[in-house]
Formats: sequence, C-alpha cells, structure tokens
Amino acid sequence: MIQRGLMHDRPGKEYNYRLMLVRKARPEDMNKVAALAARLGLDYPGMESDDFWVAETDGEIVGLVGLKTHPDCLELCSLGVGEPRRGRGTGAALVRAALASADTDIFLGTTTPGFFTKLGFEPAAAVPETFRLKRLGPWCEGCDVSKCSIMVRKRSR
Ligand SMILES: CC(C)(COP(=O)(O)OP(=O)(O)OC[C@H]1O[C@@H](n2cnc3c(N)ncnc32)[C@H](O)[C@@H]1OP(=O)(O)O)[C@@H](O)C(=O)NCCC(=O)NCCS
Repeated sequence: MIQRGLMHDRPGKEYNYRLMLVRKARPEDMNKVAALAARLGLDYPGMESDDFWVAETDGEIVGLVGLKTHPDCLELCSLGVGEPRRGRGTGAALVRAALASADTDIFLGTTTPGFFTKLGFEPAAAVPETFRLKRLGPWCEGCDVSKCSIMVRKRSR
C-alpha cells in the first residue's frame, strides 16, 4: 500500500510543502531502516526479517513501523518518526498502512497508549503468551514494564 500526503517544513506564514510517501519497505531499504531504528532506540536483532513500512520525503526515510509475526500473534513494533518530522501525521499514517495489510488482530506493547487509542487499539483483555514471555526477557530490559500497556487492534475494525 502506498499513501501520499503533504508535510510542511516550517509552521508559520510561509509553507514549504513536501510530498510524503508511506510505503512498504523494500529489501534494499533495510540498512536505512535499521539505522533510523537504531537512532531512535527501536532496533532489535533480526529486524531485517520482519515487514516494515517507511515514510519517505525527498528520498529520505524519516519514519518506520514494523509488523512482526509471532507463533501466536502479530505485533506492531518499532514505530518511530525522526524528531524534526514529528507532529505532522506521519506516525499515524505509518500505523494505518501497516494495519491495512493485515486481516487479523494486531497487538503491541506501548508506554503511549493514547496515541494508539486514536488509531483503533484498545487494552488487550487477553495477552498472548509471546508478550508475557517478552516481559521476562531482554526485550523489556531497561523499561519500566508497569508503564507498558498491551493493546490490540481487533480484526473487525
Ligand atoms: C510516537 C510517534 C511515532 C508519533 O509520531 P508523529 O508523526 O509525531 O505522530 P502524528 O503526528 O501522526 O500524531 C497523530 C496523533 O497522535 C497524537 N500523538 C502524537 N504523539 C503522541 C503521544 N506520545 N501520546 C499521545 N498522543 C500522541 C498527535 O497529537 C496526533 O493527534 P491528533 O490526530 O488528534 O492531531 C513519535 O513521537 C516518535 O517517534 N516517538 C519516539 C518513539 C516512540 O515513542 N514510539 C512509540 C513506541 S510504542
């Protein structure tokens, strides 16, 4: 899926509109995707094997989100937008593109549930085993898991 939108550079009287493209990442994008993820603290081992969507402006990848397939669920992960590009709808566009690709429930763990509620996620009544185990392992090291909400976007939405 490809979404196109306009993003402006400078709030104020003069606007410099740029085309923003949200699209599925291609294998040749993955080095840049991993580099941006690392810059934002969202990288993880083996991420090259997962599906990613990117937001691109002037040929530069400015945002990313991943969909990871676990044995018991699909997980939305590594959502991030470069700091200069935040607040322009890029994060929401990335999530919508990833959601549109799947016709099954999608789970995530987040410390910013408010962002995802606007996009159709709700607190998960039943947490997949994958998330229970993740919380015990290195994935959640350094995070306060009591601040992490497990949410789900139900397939019917
Ligand atoms: C979270 C993040 C991806 C948002 O990206 P963005 O491009 O700035 O977000 P958008 O402009 O698409 O915002 C969409 C909506 O969510 C709201 N929003 C943005 N960040 C939010 C947050 N942290 N908490 C709650 N709502 C938030 C916006 O105000 C906007 O609301 P509106 O539709 O009512 O105007 C970005 O701030 C980021 O990369 N943060 C660092 C990494 C991170 O925290 N990732 C999520 C981990 S689970």
